[in-house]
Amino acid sequence: MLVTAGPTREPVDPVRFISNPSSGRMGVAVAAAAVRRGHDVVLIAGPMNVPPPDQARCVRVTTAQEMLAAVERELHASDALIMTAAVADFRPKQVSEHKLHKQEMPARLELERNPDILATVAARKGDRLFVGFAAETQDIVENARRKLAAKRLDLIVANDVSRPDSGFGTDTNRVIFLAADTEPEHLPLLSKKQVAERILDWIEQRATRARG
Ligand code: PMT
Repeated sequence: MLVTAGPTREPVDPVRFISNPSSGRMGVAVAAAAVRRGHDVVLIAGPMNVPPPDQARCVRVTTAQEMLAAVERELHASDALIMTAAVADFRPKQVSEHKLHKQEMPARLELERNPDILATVAARKGDRLFVGFAAETQDIVENARRKLAAKRLDLIVANDVSRPDSGFGTDTNRVIFLAADTEPEHLPLLSKKQVAERILDWIEQRATRARG
């Protein structure tokens, strides 16, 4: 099982970056649940606030481009990819090698798009299961359904990140499971550990069904 976790950081200079508040808790919960169930787990982790599970092989990355390279390197040996990572969609166009002094700092940062990791590896999906997350603050089901199709996912875990008890940095999460062939499944407020177990249940049921 290949799991991504945490944020990516996109440097402006050696002491500044663009990022988001992902702590890595959700991804670590998924990796730990998979380890407990006896899977071989590779965790590709951006700069997280929590330690990775002991029995998972952890590949540390910082930027979205590094995360993409690591996913491309590790994908061939995996049966499932679970992308909990909050990948920065944009990076500064210019990265200064030295700390920019206040006078040198441009009033506007010019940004360029980062690669979409899931969309990039979609062509190499084969019969692997791909699970994505969708961090949303409004029109949660509609937006997540669009990402499910665009990124050719088997399951998207739509994540309400507008509430204080759900999303970034929390111990609990409120999610909706969306798959192409089933009705949305609204889960109650659960611990991230419980959400992780539900994702693993879903993957294992799908894999059993596919094996016939
Ligand atoms: O780490 P925690 O503090 O526990 O917080 C958990 C979480 C809120 C980060 C997690 O539950 C979550 O919602 N992760 C997805 C956040 C996100 O980036 O969502 P998105 O809607 O922007 O992306 C949709 C999917 O595409 C995600 O699976 C993402 O990993 C993937 N993606 C996004 C951008 C990109 N350039 N490449 C990608 O593959």
